[in-house]
Amino acid sequence: MTKELLNYLSLITIGISGISIAVGLIFIKLKKKEIHKFFMINASVFALIFVLLYIIKSFLYPPQPYVGPYRKIFLFILWTHTVLAIINFPLAVITLRYAFKGLFERHKKIAPITAFVWLYVAITGWLIYYFLQWLNK
Ligand code: HEM
Repeated sequence: MTKELLNYLSLITIGISGISIAVGLIFIKLKKKEIHKFFMINASVFALIFVLLYIIKSFLYPPQPYVGPYRKIFLFILWTHTVLAIINFPLAVITLRYAFKGLFERHKKIAPITAFVWLYVAITGWLIYYFLQWLNK
């Protein structure tokens, strides 16, 4: 698999995952619980595919350095993205577990944090790609 193909697949999967979270949030606000469930599971499946692609990419290719302008902004985005992506995993597991066990009071407490972190990771994932492709020297 070429690096370009892996990059595109990564963008598509993290994009679908982030959009699914946003759509899932809209549906729970509309009290459509089953549709909310569908989109949140969809978001989780695509996030897992993204992680898989990320692991394959880091085995096959060295990390691409960033040498463009706005280096400080880039590093801020990269670090917060990485740290929150790691935190997102246990958050997602706990949020899903509460939901599947029917513990919706607990689910409702942690879920907004999970959703925020998830969206941040997805959006900054796209930004990092944008920096590396278009603002790099
Ligand atoms: C990681 C994935 C998920 C996230 C980020 C998430 C996020 C949320 C959020 C933000 C709320 C609204 C809280 C509020 O407005 O007070 C909510 C409520 C809810 N979620 Fe999820 N959710 C996820 C997965 C699921 C799953 C898999 C199910 C079903 C098995 C589910 C079932 C529900 C239900 C039934 C409510 C409404 C609870 C109530 O109002 O009593 N969620 N979720």
